[in-house]
Amino acid sequence: MNILVTGGAGYIGSHTCISLLEAGYSVIVADNLCNSKIETLKRVMKITNKEIIFYKIDVTNEHDVEELFEKHSIDGIIHFAGLKAVGESQKIPLIYYYNNIVSTIILAKVCEKYGVKRFVFSSSATVYGENQVPFFENMNLMPTTNPYGESKVISERILTDVAKEIPGFSVAILRYFNPVGAHESGLIGEVPNGNPNNLMPYITQVAVGKLDKLRIFGDDYSTFDGTGIRDYIHVMDLAEGHVAALRYLKEGVQVYNLGTGKGTSVIELVRAFEEANNIKIPYEIVSRRHGDIAACYADVTKASRELGWRANRSIRSMCEDSWRFELNNK
Ligand code: NAD
Ligand code: UFG
Repeated sequence: MNILVTGGAGYIGSHTCISLLEAGYSVIVADNLCNSKIETLKRVMKITNKEIIFYKIDVTNEHDVEELFEKHSIDGIIHFAGLKAVGESQKIPLIYYYNNIVSTIILAKVCEKYGVKRFVFSSSATVYGENQVPFFENMNLMPTTNPYGESKVISERILTDVAKEIPGFSVAILRYFNPVGAHESGLIGEVPNGNPNNLMPYITQVAVGKLDKLRIFGDDYSTFDGTGIRDYIHVMDLAEGHVAALRYLKEGVQVYNLGTGKGTSVIELVRAFEEANNIKIPYEIVSRRHGDIAACYADVTKASRELGWRANRSIRSMCEDSWRFELNNK
């Protein structure tokens, strides 16, 4: 089966390529490399000893996407391509809305034209806004505080409407919680652009000495230690979740949380990293970051029941694998 992976050179996409290849799928990647490097795909091929067909195209370009569908018989698509920095999305909202929404429209349109019925979409737990934790798939979505989040809500709606109208169209909307970690080979992982915004890459860059200390955004949340709680999920568990969703796809739209169901505080993650890797992480407490919520974690019963998938890698292995990748790539 030929699977088109948009954004396949990126962090989650590249790890998912490994899981797809290992599960026997053929992989075609479409990526404009705006936030990734071709070297990552070379490493994926090295790890799996399998080939990937690569197109350097922008998936908002309908002509280029059609050309790809003309050349290959596509059986399904996993759409990762997107811009993902929350803060940046507030500074350049039009670019975020255009890229993240137009790409979804173009891909759905081309799928319809070429009779491709399997569509897996990368959404985010950010669509739950300030709902009560744990987050369930059937909760009403809350307005998010930024264009990035809105672009995910709108893309979800577009795909839901499209699935109602195209007979046989099967969509899985996957709401990721906080992906961290790296492939255990240490060859591929997350490469943030400039100073990291996210906690784990920030910790690894402090650990390696690129940054002097971690700033913890607030210790006055209503959580057990006052710091923010998130549902960190190992990127390889997340990758395997995509294969499970692809296998299960059925007509209409299915929404799944891909998380572990367990919340970890900022301080707990710092301590886990220190323990796993035997490195001290200096930190200071600073004020809250605008737009952050106190706690975000998933209810994962639906994915477990329907997809037969469960995240099972530990916080410790997330810390070890993130660190191995940082050391290999500093
Ligand atoms: P990433 O930036 O590492 O990967 C995205 C890839 O898409 C990059 O390789 C980039 O070059 C490519 N891309 C972007 N726009 C494109 C376009 N128009 N045409 C072709 N290629 C394009 O990000 P990631 O962390 O791997 O995220 C993948 C998806 O998952 C994104 O849609 C993101 O919004 C979503 N997501 C990520 C997180 C997270 O914390 N990493 C959380 C929730 C959801
Ligand atoms: N944090 C710090 N210091 C840092 C970075 C983060 O204390 O330098 C804290 C945050 O305040 C938060 C926790 O660490 O409590 C996790 O923050 P991240 O930035 O790693 O992740 P977020 O949960 O804020 O955001 C992530 C993705 C978003 C997505 C959101 C909801 O980066 O794209 O999850 O799914 F929208």
